[in-house]
Amino acid sequence: MAAKPGSKFYITTAIAYVNGLPHLGHAYEAILTDVMARFQRLDGRDVMFLTGTDEHGEKVAKTAEKNNVAPKAFADINAAAFEQMDKTLNISHDDFIRTTEPRHYAASQALWKKLQERGDIYLGKYEGWYSVREEGYFTEAELTKNDKGQMITPNGTEAEWVEEPSYFFKLSTYRDKLLDLYQKNPDFIQPATRKNEIVSFVSQEGGLKDISVSRHKKRLSWGIPVPGDEDHVMYVWLDALTNYITSPGYPDEKKDTFKKYWPADYHVIGKDIIRFHAIYWPAFLMSADIELPKTIFAHGFINVQGAKMSKSVGNVLSPDDLVRTYGLDQIRYFLMREIPHGEDGNFSHEQAVQRINADLANGLGNLAQRTLSQIYKNCDSKFPKPGALTDEDKHLLDAAQTKMLEVVRVEFNKFKFNKGLEAIISVAAKADAYIDVQAPWKLKKENVERMNTVLYVLAEVIRCLGIIIQPVVPDSSAKLLDQLKVSADERAYTHLAPKYALKPGAVIDQPIGVFPRLNLEEEAA
Ligand code: MSP
Repeated sequence: MAAKPGSKFYITTAIAYVNGLPHLGHAYEAILTDVMARFQRLDGRDVMFLTGTDEHGEKVAKTAEKNNVAPKAFADINAAAFEQMDKTLNISHDDFIRTTEPRHYAASQALWKKLQERGDIYLGKYEGWYSVREEGYFTEAELTKNDKGQMITPNGTEAEWVEEPSYFFKLSTYRDKLLDLYQKNPDFIQPATRKNEIVSFVSQEGGLKDISVSRHKKRLSWGIPVPGDEDHVMYVWLDALTNYITSPGYPDEKKDTFKKYWPADYHVIGKDIIRFHAIYWPAFLMSADIELPKTIFAHGFINVQGAKMSKSVGNVLSPDDLVRTYGLDQIRYFLMREIPHGEDGNFSHEQAVQRINADLANGLGNLAQRTLSQIYKNCDSKFPKPGALTDEDKHLLDAAQTKMLEVVRVEFNKFKFNKGLEAIISVAAKADAYIDVQAPWKLKKENVERMNTVLYVLAEVIRCLGIIIQPVVPDSSAKLLDQLKVSADERAYTHLAPKYALKPGAVIDQPIGVFPRLNLEEEAA
């Protein structure tokens, strides 16, 4: 079922720390979210898509210091790199938020005051373990000692002992409310494996402790000042999570965009930051009496050639290099096709070349090129008029115009882009088999009417493929649809329907291949 036409859809990515430059992991999350946003727009929804950068906190402050640059100047440089990554990857966000913007200070401080008015914030002293890399607090039980005697978190980062005066948020009092939330909204955390992790963490007796939500100036001053106490800045996660409501207009809850778009339909994040989103964030919102987001979707991590990306291993891939090597739409396609829903995935050069060539160059691209060239050469460069349709023709048309959308809608709505793409490519494969069996090139002399019918059916199937695959390969599908003379206002998913089928007689230009074949053996060495 299509969503209600024009109904709102608000989707966000995590906002990236600006202590480093964008890498493949950030690119994957941006593309994943972009594909969902584009899909929803094409399926008729009014989409608001937010992304941005997380600029405060100890991690950024320390890296800036190492580089001898003031934190804001350092953040400016790397935030620009993330904005550039979004351009390079053709990300269709509606807003890019930086947590150093005045609008975000206003929202974060207003939220803090709400939590305070509710009586959920109190001043105490934090004594415990803190991981700067994760900007997160850990209990001793969660840590292990490595051979150098350092305390290591479950995510492999080092934790250090911290003692400082700090404001606390009464997270412990939200335990039952959170468990109730997970139980009443079984889809709040997706996929289910992640939900189970969170439910078991929160259910543990004493599992949910009050959390420190400020840092003392003596230790850290790079943050949003705590309202009414200049000695403290807000804990970076409280600041960062607030970005999702800053963008639509908080603290002005009456603002049109806030009323329209909040609550978010999806927060798309990586599996490493699920606790912050599925525990802290709903608790803060409950405390402030703000509606909760509908779903937190946690994707997996991408490894490179089987190993975790890391500077020391030297396998960190930059989005720029990937686009240069494989092509933009090619890399978008590969990531969406190859990484299974919610699971970790692997990036390897061989897999990328193999998949891109098989599905795009030899699959969809070749099908389009073969069909359009024959129309150009043998049909006077006009879409031919079909004669009577056989069962095979009807079957193929039905698969492309109707059945494919039914599957894609179900799968794409659940972030199962790999499954949706499988369905799309299987229609291209069916059309390939059809062209081989029908052999329209042989019909030119024997049966022109049948040749016309076959080529028309194929062109129509390619129109449907071009429309449906737009969220994943926006530039290439636009080139394809341009060649098919499908106008810009006839590319929404409703236009897959038979009544919008190609008009015979439209004149086409000499076709140009849309998906070149990659030949990158030398790079694999
Ligand atoms: N600043 C926080 C998020 C705050 S959201 C209110 C943060 N930043 S991050 O730069 O470390 O990560 C940004 C996103 O990229 C996170 O969702 C994270 O999970 C994701 N990824 C980082 N490395 C990744 C991979 N190797 N693979 C896939 N996604 C990864 O966390």
